[in-house]
Amino acid sequence: MANVKFYKPEEQVPLELHKVRVVQKLFLLPVEERVQKMVEAGNNTFLLQNKDVFMDMLTDSGVNAMSDNQIASMMIADDSYAGSETCNRLLAALEETFGTKYFLPAHQGRACENILAEAFVKPGTFTLMNYHFTTTKAHITRVGGSVIELVKSAGLEPVNDDPFKGDFDIPRLEQVIKDLDPKNVAFVRIEAGTNLIGGQPVSLQNMLEVAEVCKKNGILSILDASLLQDNMYFMKMREPMCKDMSIKDIMHKLADTMDIVYFSARKLGFARGGVIISNNEDLILKMKEFVPLYEGFLTYGGMEVRSMEAIAVGLRETLDMDIISQGPIFIEHLVNELDSYGVPMIKPAGGLGAHINAGAFLPHLSHADYPAAALGAALYIAGGIRGMERGTMSEQRNPDGSERYSELELLRLAVPRRVFTLSQLKYCADRVKWLFDNRDLIGALKWENEPAVLRFFFGRMQPVDDWQLKLAQKFRADFGDSL
Ligand SMILES: Cc1ncc(COP(=O)(O)O)c(C=O)c1O
Repeated sequence: MANVKFYKPEEQVPLELHKVRVVQKLFLLPVEERVQKMVEAGNNTFLLQNKDVFMDMLTDSGVNAMSDNQIASMMIADDSYAGSETCNRLLAALEETFGTKYFLPAHQGRACENILAEAFVKPGTFTLMNYHFTTTKAHITRVGGSVIELVKSAGLEPVNDDPFKGDFDIPRLEQVIKDLDPKNVAFVRIEAGTNLIGGQPVSLQNMLEVAEVCKKNGILSILDASLLQDNMYFMKMREPMCKDMSIKDIMHKLADTMDIVYFSARKLGFARGGVIISNNEDLILKMKEFVPLYEGFLTYGGMEVRSMEAIAVGLRETLDMDIISQGPIFIEHLVNELDSYGVPMIKPAGGLGAHINAGAFLPHLSHADYPAAALGAALYIAGGIRGMERGTMSEQRNPDGSERYSELELLRLAVPRRVFTLSQLKYCADRVKWLFDNRDLIGALKWENEPAVLRFFFGRMQPVDDWQLKLAQKFRADFGDSL
């Protein structure tokens, strides 16, 4: 990774190793209009219109900036239904980067999860994972399976120096397999860069140990590599065994060891799509029939061919530490800035985004008040910044209908790769700081309309009183005529 030291060390900031050549104009509405837009969106940041958002920190999914070479590659896409050269080029890129022989396409990450659930999860079986992701769990429970989470305890502590908070608790994994009987375990899923607990990485050592436990017990090991690029940056920076390995060595090792690897190419590959790979032809055959059934023909699986070309180039670019380091370095900068202001953050900084510990930010609210969703609504009002609730609202209710309170109440501020400048991140930190100083004004939310499945996507909520108007009035009093 390029090492560029500033002459004045105290002025050192992350330095972009790319330049920006296409830009999009942004709009920042006055605070009174932001309150109105939040009402219209049912206090759900997913329901805001992008034109009303100044900094879109909802997700890193499909919104990373593409490189010039990715965009150029889209021009040669081969738009044939069968036997497409684009498919061959993507297969070649997967062979080069992961060293795998077989590939199934799907339109995005959750479509891969649908195929995995259909092929391997039987009613009454258990899927073990370090931590669930929303769509993964929804697909597994939809076909009658259950999810058991086995992340080590440090992973659920908001602040803990552990460099790999996403690691599995291996003794617990072994015990649970013994207790359940391996034949009742559908598969073990390792999620790189654990999304819902702060983008925290998993060590290579831990991934290999999990795969070993699976092998010993005759259980499938599946790697969700959607957030692998940030995870590999942390492996390289923090794990002695990875110091002398190239990024390609790490990817090959993982694909060699796991039975199946899948990923959302909206994240890994800086484009849009979904990929399942394996070196095991029998496993591929078990999943193959679901591709034409749910996705599209085997050469594109619902992906647009131009995106497939961009994934192929994006995967090769992932081998470059200058490229994959940019996200985590910017995130660390934002986390450090917020931490220096006293804002409770998930630490150490992970990948994907900066995660505010909404539970600690709003100690006067309980899980039942949906603190992470309330903080998300408040931050939009304070700065036109759109984060994503990653707390109780993002959970699904227990089978008996009772609320399942999330372990961590997080507001995630995603930092899509190569999209924001440092001054924009500084603005974001400034508005969060203002909100922190005025946190007593932030009140609870309650459901107005609660969908049964993946409710956080389109559920609507209401403030319990007029706290949002009071917050906007305080903003006006403090900032005068500022947007
Ligand atoms: C770890 C992980 N797995 C799976 C998915 C689902 O991918 P997609 O959004 O492409 O459906 C995501 C998306 O955020 C993710 O973070």
